Amino acid sequence: MRTRNLRGLLAFALLPVVAGAATAGDAGRGKDVFQACVACHGDRGGDLGPSLAGVVGRKAGSREDFRYSGPMSRAGFVWDEARLKAFIHEPQEVVRGTRMPFGGMDDARDIDDLVSYLATLK
Ligand code: HEC
Repeated sequence: MRTRNLRGLLAFALLPVVAGAATAGDAGRGKDVFQACVACHGDRGGDLGPSLAGVVGRKAGSREDFRYSGPMSRAGFVWDEARLKAFIHEPQEVVRGTRMPFGGMDDARDIDDLVSYLATLK
C-alpha cells in the first residue's frame, strides 16, 4: 500500500518532466550541478564567462563587464527559466553561434535543479 502510493506520487512528479513542462527543481541539489559551470561562471563571475548572478529575468548578453559574442549580444530575449533550461540542454539550439564552449546537459532533473539554483543567485 505504502509502496504503491509512493510509486503513484513519483509518476506524478515525473510527468511534467517528461512533458517538458516547467517544474520546481531542488536548488540545494542544483548547487552541486552548478559545479559543471563554475570553471567559467564562478559564483561571482569567472574569467571565461559572464556572471550568472541575477541571470533569471536579465536580458541575454547584457552585462557591461563581459564581451559577448555577436549572436549572444543580439539574442534579444530575456532569460526565463524555460529558456535557461533549453540553453543548458543545447546551447547552440537556443543561441546559434554562441561561443559558450559547453556541449549541453541531458538529465532533465539536473537541469531543473540547476535552474532553480540559478534563480537564487542575486
Ligand atoms: C568552458 C566555459 C563555460 C562553461 C563550462 C559554461 N559556460 Fe556559460 N558561458 C560561457 C561563455 C564564454 C558565455 C558567453 C557566450 C557568448 O557570448 O556567446 C556563456 C554564457 C552563458 C549564459 C548567458 C549569460 C548572459 O549574460 O546572457 C548563460 C545563461 C550560461 N552561460 C549558463 C551556463 C551554465 C548554466 C553552465 C553550466 C551548465 C555554463 N554556462 C557552462 C562559458 C561557459
